[in-house]
Amino acid sequence: MQTKIAPSITPNERKEAVARAVELLQAGEVVALPTETVYGLAGDALSAGAVAKIFETKERPRFDPLIVHLPNREWLERVAIIEDKMRPLIDRLTSSYWPGPLTIVLPKTDLIPSLATAGLTTVAVRMSAHPIFSEVVQSLDRPLAAPSANRFGRISPTSAADVAEELSGRIALIVDGGPTAYGIESTVVALREDAMTILRFGPITQEELAGIGEVRIDSLGKLESPGQLPSHYRPQTPLVIAEDIIAVSVPRGKRYGALLWSDSPFSETFVESRRLSTTSDLREAAANLFRYLRELDRAHLDCIVAEAMPDEGLGLAIMDRLRRAAHAGPSR
Ligand code: TXA
Ligand code: MG
Repeated sequence: MQTKIAPSITPNERKEAVARAVELLQAGEVVALPTETVYGLAGDALSAGAVAKIFETKERPRFDPLIVHLPNREWLERVAIIEDKMRPLIDRLTSSYWPGPLTIVLPKTDLIPSLATAGLTTVAVRMSAHPIFSEVVQSLDRPLAAPSANRFGRISPTSAADVAEELSGRIALIVDGGPTAYGIESTVVALREDAMTILRFGPITQEELAGIGEVRIDSLGKLESPGQLPSHYRPQTPLVIAEDIIAVSVPRGKRYGALLWSDSPFSETFVESRRLSTTSDLREAAANLFRYLRELDRAHLDCIVAEAMPDEGLGLAIMDRLRRAAHAGPSR
């Protein structure tokens, strides 16, 4: 299959790209679309056939459920069961963070095929704030299931070129919306007994959620989302996390690269390096994370050394991704 990358810079380009995406989605096909977090591989969430195509295209195991992206807030009532006692919390969350990078896990209705939720009785829902994604999903007026547009277990794509690297030849269309704003996937929270449990750290931080209601965390690193595997985002190059980057010594003849947080001087130690943010800004660091990981992964290194950063706020979400990227095991 020929993969077309459709630009969306001029109004005409954008109109054409959106129309083509809607047409393909109506025909039960899958297309890659930009969101404010990472690029998604979207398909009609109400069609079991389209949902099956998403799993096949990504080579994603069927036990890992998908996020359902809604055209508007009203759709929440159709796809999720909302108990009265949960309503105030849900209203506070959605009015504060929707549309935006927050995914909420709630009991599902029968409208969503069980393949989309991997047989779970719950469904993960969000509303994307990306103008192109929201235009497509609103024109379709049906929810879109969309996981990150990478092959299973690999680094999430933050540009159209990243998606092409992952899925070229497997899908008909990638809509190019430029680099994504946040660069890491949405925060995922499950709601139960009037409290929020964080299942995946992301752009909406624990501190922000605590301003809305009680927050619980399943013991760190053992989050209960089926897709939160200890090994994920794995580059081909081995990756290690260093608390003290200056203390790293490189074996003779080996090529090491660095993914840096601080401005520590290290001169000749590393043959390649990327600094996540020159102003120590965590938002900028998150936006650059996956792009720099891909670049370092292409640099024929023996090892990528990632410098540890503060485990708080957005730093927690970034460290979570780095720990999964570092998880030992044979690289593929
Ligand atoms: O930012 C994002 O969320 C991106 C963009 C495309 O929207 N999507 C994304 O999807 O990251 P994906 O499929 O790569 O990650 C979805 C995560 C997985 O860890 C999955 O296990 C979890 O959400 N998840 C989905 N449904 C769930 C459910 N019912 N209960 C618990 N976890 C769920
Ligand atoms: Mg993913």
